[in-house]
Amino acid sequence: MRIGLLNGGGDCPGLNAVTHGVVGAATRLGWEVVGFKDGFEGLLSPGNYKLLKVEKTEGILKLGGTILGTSNKGHFSSKVGAGGVRYIPSELMEDAKGTMRDLGVEALICVGGDGTLTTALQFWKEDFPVVGVPKTIDNDLAATAMTFGFDSATQTVVDALDRLHTTAESHKRIMVLEVMGRHAGWIALYGGIGGGACSILIPEIPFTIDKVAEAIQKREEMGFHSSLVVVAEGASPKGGSLIIEDANEGGEVRLGGIGEIVSDKLSELTGKETRCTTLGHLQRGGSPTSLDRVLGTRFGVKAVNLIEEKRFGRMVSYQQYHVGSVTIEEAVRQLNLVDPEGEVVAAAKSVGVCFGD
Ligand code: F6P
Repeated sequence: MRIGLLNGGGDCPGLNAVTHGVVGAATRLGWEVVGFKDGFEGLLSPGNYKLLKVEKTEGILKLGGTILGTSNKGHFSSKVGAGGVRYIPSELMEDAKGTMRDLGVEALICVGGDGTLTTALQFWKEDFPVVGVPKTIDNDLAATAMTFGFDSATQTVVDALDRLHTTAESHKRIMVLEVMGRHAGWIALYGGIGGGACSILIPEIPFTIDKVAEAIQKREEMGFHSSLVVVAEGASPKGGSLIIEDANEGGEVRLGGIGEIVSDKLSELTGKETRCTTLGHLQRGGSPTSLDRVLGTRFGVKAVNLIEEKRFGRMVSYQQYHVGSVTIEEAVRQLNLVDPEGEVVAAAKSVGVCFGD
């Protein structure tokens, strides 16, 4: 038995842990794993791949990035903007399936976010056996309580805030940190709480900048002369729109720039010195945390188990500390967004965090 493995979308800490899990579990079953390079692009004939033996994956568990390469654009991009879907032309699908047939690959594991899983679903609908593994630092996939990569990204935000804190205190400044997350505020929310931010602005709660400025003034009156403000790249003011940095070839927008806008406005309203840092791809790089290494390994093993049980068209899913599975269809149907009325936001508000609402 030969199975295929590919990574799609942005790189993410823990991708190599999944590869380690897949190769380990498959090898124990006597199977071979064909690792396709650069996402679905590696499926184009004659195929761009490498055979993944345990000797080749030894020691990769702790590495960031992916030994297979990945891509969030190209021939197989199926997501356009928030919610738009592009159907992959049948000649491309046939070409990809032909490559796998020629290599003797009987089932394919697709590791990725919403876009990758949407393409994987098309393969399954066209009768090619696939299994999905949820990946994204944004944690925005419904049907799984957590994706690997999110914990590592959040830890990077917390580390950054700890560092910004010292300058904020020494100079009595407001330090604004813009973080990733696309249309979901999970990274900002968890990173902001963990790093002691006084204000967290997320896409799910449109903000009023005067409220944030008021919260900072109140802190001044209480004798706290420095403030950390975390802004998700997808956050926007009430009645305002998303700040779009760019649109890639597939039409998926790249967000960014709201941090500087918030920073300038807060400086104007409070009269305090304010600086903005955009954390950017530092959140996607580096070694995965222990949680992401373990989650990635478990996800990889589960994907192989699903193939062994011939339960195709399913995505590995993490629910209540247990790794199970759901249909891919269920997983790509909706985004997992922060509940503005939920317990996490309420807990943050209870300890004085201002969301600008
Ligand atoms: O989906 C992961 C993510 O890092 C988002 O948080 C961010 O908006 C986007 O990818 C950045 O994409 P790129 O690497 O193409 O700039």
